[in-house]
Amino acid sequence: LARQLPRISSGRRIVIIADQQAHRFHGSRLADALDSRFDTEVVLVPRGESSKSLRWVQRLYARFRSFNLARDELVLAFGGGVVGDLAGFAAATYMRGVRWVIVPTTLLSQIDSAIGGKVGVNFRSVKNLLGAFHQPSLVVSDIRTLRTLPRREIRSALAEVVKYGMIADPPLLRLLERFTKRILTGDVALLSRIVARCCRIKARIVESDPRDWGVRANLNYGHTLGHALEACAGGRLTHGEAIALGMRGAARLAEELGYLTPAERSRQDRILDRLGLPRRVSGLNRPAVIDKLLLDKKIRRRELRFVLTRGVGSATVAPPIEETRVHDVLADLLA
Ligand SMILES: NC(=O)c1ccc[n+]([C@@H]2O[C@H](COP(=O)([O-])OP(=O)(O)OC[C@H]3O[C@@H](n4cnc5c(N)ncnc54)[C@H](O)[C@@H]3O)[C@@H](O)[C@H]2O)c1
Ligand SMILES: [Zn+2]
Repeated sequence: LARQLPRISSGRRIVIIADQQAHRFHGSRLADALDSRFDTEVVLVPRGESSKSLRWVQRLYARFRSFNLARDELVLAFGGGVVGDLAGFAAATYMRGVRWVIVPTTLLSQIDSAIGGKVGVNFRSVKNLLGAFHQPSLVVSDIRTLRTLPRREIRSALAEVVKYGMIADPPLLRLLERFTKRILTGDVALLSRIVARCCRIKARIVESDPRDWGVRANLNYGHTLGHALEACAGGRLTHGEAIALGMRGAARLAEELGYLTPAERSRQDRILDRLGLPRRVSGLNRPAVIDKLLLDKKIRRRELRFVLTRGVGSATVAPPIEETRVHDVLADLLA
């Protein structure tokens, strides 16, 4: 950070938007890294998805204003995806855009949300309804910040790693298979490799489709079903757990359509098992999940479309799939 920041900004000041937890555990590391060359103002944001709101955006604008943040100065987001999306949105819109930097402190944000420039907040209980594309000028992932993350957060983020493996990177799957235990216990060297690989994949996909009209959709592997399950589960499933279920469902569809061999499908499912990700979820109502699926913003004309993998390591948006097939898949996932 000390080396890179002066290259990005000629200004002297930085507004740090920090997740309260991340700041509690690692704020002093961040302060040490920034040294005294920069004047900093820290805004602490409470944990949780409800901070991704216009109310918080307004609070950030007010702090930028009272700090007299100038256009050549920086916003720095320190925390997980919530703080990243919120700070990035405020940075995208304040004075038509000020530069910003992310120091992601969750595994999910290091491998996913910090890359790609999608920023935004929720509105009227619709996730990410308001947003922008605003690329950060720098992303610095410090793997050591992950030590204080709850194990469930790590597991859940690893579901997205399986996703990258399935859509683009078979060697990543081999890494997960060989070193499951060490990865789950937070091995820094292995997590560094994983984060780096995932960033490269996401950056490559985003570069070829920055505004999400085409291949960027492949990143939604497991997400069509996953989002519907997540929404219906009302907080009982983490995002990653829901995505794991979504990928199990998608792989079953892929096998039925001949896109995946039975062996390839069971390889994916075995990796998810080893990572401790769920096979099914109880207490959900199938018609409600189907309703949610049809509401998904990616669904055109009530057609159920899914990203499916063709073999391990490549993905495509498959032609629409009949509702009855999807019912069968859900019957498996809903215990
Ligand atoms: N912009 C994108 O492309 C993109 C992609 C995926 C997800 N997202 C968004 O990201 C958000 C989810 O991100 P997330 O999973 O990072 O959640 P999060 O930001 O809510 O962080 C999860 C929890 O971890 C805590 N935390 C953060 N760093 C910590 C640390 N080092 N040690 C201990 N605890 C720590 C937080 O306080 C929080 O309670 C969602 O809002 C989602 O919409 C955005
Ligand atoms: Zn996801």
